[in-house]
Amino acid sequence: MQLHDAGVVITGGGNGIGAAMARRFAALGARVVVNDLHAGSCDAVASEIGGFSVPGDAATATGIQALVDAARAHLGAIDLFCANAGVGTGGGPEAPEDDWDLAWRVNVMAHVRAARALLPDWLDRGRGHFLATVSAAGLLTMLGSAPYSVTKHGALAFAEWMQITYADRGVTVQALCPQGVRTAMLEASGTAGKLLLGAESISPEQAADAVVAGLADGGFLILPHPEVAGYYAARAADPDRWQGQMRKLQRMISAETATDRPSASTAATHTEGTAR
Ligand SMILES: NC(=O)c1ccc[n+]([C@@H]2O[C@H](COP(=O)([O-])OP(=O)(O)OC[C@H]3O[C@@H](n4cnc5c(N)ncnc54)[C@H](O)[C@@H]3O)[C@@H](O)[C@H]2O)c1
Repeated sequence: MQLHDAGVVITGGGNGIGAAMARRFAALGARVVVNDLHAGSCDAVASEIGGFSVPGDAATATGIQALVDAARAHLGAIDLFCANAGVGTGGGPEAPEDDWDLAWRVNVMAHVRAARALLPDWLDRGRGHFLATVSAAGLLTMLGSAPYSVTKHGALAFAEWMQITYADRGVTVQALCPQGVRTAMLEASGTAGKLLLGAESISPEQAADAVVAGLADGGFLILPHPEVAGYYAARAADPDRWQGQMRKLQRMISAETATDRPSASTAATHTEGTAR
């Protein structure tokens, strides 16, 4: 798609990948509406790029509707909606109910609710573009973080369903699936995140470059770490072998965590299928 003069909305645009996309899109001539739960960073990014700030919760039905209404009033029409806000909740089934609920709400239901608010207008116009920031965790897994892995798989499934259902009616859906990106989320991701993703992490600006290339290319998956395509294929071709490799990594992380002596070098070459 053409970014010049496009009306763009970015959720979670106050920091990290969303802020880098906002800056990059604005530099390419897009008219950008920045959303973030954190009003201060939302306003700061919007004012830096000459965009429009709409702080608020992009995961609730009322929050999304308010964002879409404000963006339409400002832009005229929304050409590209980037469902980028996400939360990186750790743990397994023992993680608190509230953490699981938050992961579902922000990582999955925010996308469903945004689509519900956007589709009627997009289907009338016969065009619209939805970019879901998923994660390579949606194609593979994230060791140490069941809520994140499960909800990112959900986000990918929803994006795929949307693309299959609406592409013939002019609505394009793409899924951005990076591994480690050096943002506050990666910083907060604990031993597994740092050991497995740190060494091959990219900057938010590199992720934004991959998004611009991916929007021009139009393919469903946007993979800022191209090696993820190989991991995804290996997982599909031989799930048991792939799980065997992942179990080795899990044992390594368990050992590192138990002895509390992280050493990034042990993990640098072993990111076969773990992703933030
Ligand atoms: N950093 C990584 O390694 C990585 C890798 C793959 C995918 N991702 C995904 O990229 C997206 C952006 O993450 P990031 O790394 O830039 O993290 P980040 O923490 O730097 O930024 C996320 C932003 O989203 C905002 N946010 C959270 N919940 C919100 C809500 N309900 N409504 C509006 N804003 C909300 C936060 O305030 C924050 O500013 C997420 O979906 C994340 O899962 C990140």
